[in-house]
Amino acid sequence: MSTERTYVMLKPDAVRRGLVGSIVSRFENSGLKMEAMCHINVSSEQSGELYKEHDGKPFYQSLISYIHSGPVVTTVWSGPSAVSIARKLIGATNPAEAAPGTIRGDFGLILDENVIHGSDSVKSAEREIPIFFPDLA
Ligand code: RTP
Ligand code: MG
Repeated sequence: MSTERTYVMLKPDAVRRGLVGSIVSRFENSGLKMEAMCHINVSSEQSGELYKEHDGKPFYQSLISYIHSGPVVTTVWSGPSAVSIARKLIGATNPAEAAPGTIRGDFGLILDENVIHGSDSVKSAEREIPIFFPDLA
């Protein structure tokens, strides 16, 4: 089993609602190792790069506005199968469809404010991590 890294970002609604500790503890409890954590306001360069695959889609502008609506907490986690384990902890994209026990299932209500981002593949993680943590490139 190979060690992977994944990029996980607690979105503005999670920070606004004081959910950082509850969410981060789920990752710590899983056994994944925290490599980095930072509280930041995302720049337009960073949001454009993170969500470039969605540029041009109907929800793109509202997604970008949402990411800029307040500070986020950026994190990197490592461990065996870190990418898929993080996605399992996070749950389905739409909180209305996310299973109870997952972060989106327990803390989210609507697709437009779904609490958290997690890289969807090892390739995406290795692209996303340096956008927010150049020192970890
Ligand atoms: P994320 O990138 O934020 O971890 O979410 P994801 O992989 O589960 O979902 P993705 O398809 O990458 O979508 C990115 C974010 O865009 C918003 N979205 N809105 N209105 C819509 O149809 C729609 N589809 C996606 C969500 O906030 C989603 O997290
Ligand atoms: Mg995604």
